[in-house]
Amino acid sequence: THTHTHTHIHTHTLTCDLNIMNSWSPEALVRKSQEAKEQAYCPYSKFRVGAAVLTSDGTVFTGCNVENACYTAGLCAERTAISKAVSEGHKSFKAIAIASDLEDRFISPCGACRQFMREFGSQWDVYMSKSDGSYKLMTVKELLPCSFGPDDLRARENH
Ligand code: THU
Repeated sequence: THTHTHTHIHTHTLTCDLNIMNSWSPEALVRKSQEAKEQAYCPYSKFRVGAAVLTSDGTVFTGCNVENACYTAGLCAERTAISKAVSEGHKSFKAIAIASDLEDRFISPCGACRQFMREFGSQWDVYMSKSDGSYKLMTVKELLPCSFGPDDLRARENH
């Protein structure tokens, strides 16, 4: 019998990609969301979505949709990205970009994702893109007017 011992030599290349955007552009954030879309795990819908959220200190967190055999347990790209940011200590957001493969429609965040965004403020920007990178800009407040948020819960303390 032969025993094969494979020695894998991993070459680690140092890159400076810390996902920090000190001077950012909507186009660059959309590009990041398109790259995140490549990781989409969507064997059921086959509908790839990517998101990239920019924090107030310039850090970018990306996310993709993560589906599940138990369909309702699936996660949207936007909530994946925001949860990654919050779980790393970032709760102040400037903007989020969203990408899909739709060629002639701007990808629009679902209601649950709008509420998830709103938790962290209403006055920040949502860039909804088409597959060619063109985008439509709306604020969280425009996407979810008359919303229920953290302040509504705190209002109870005054009674
Ligand atoms: N999806 C997102 O990830 N974000 C959106 O803005 C729209 C919908 C996902 C959820 C599901 O995995 C697939 O797209 C089809 O609904």
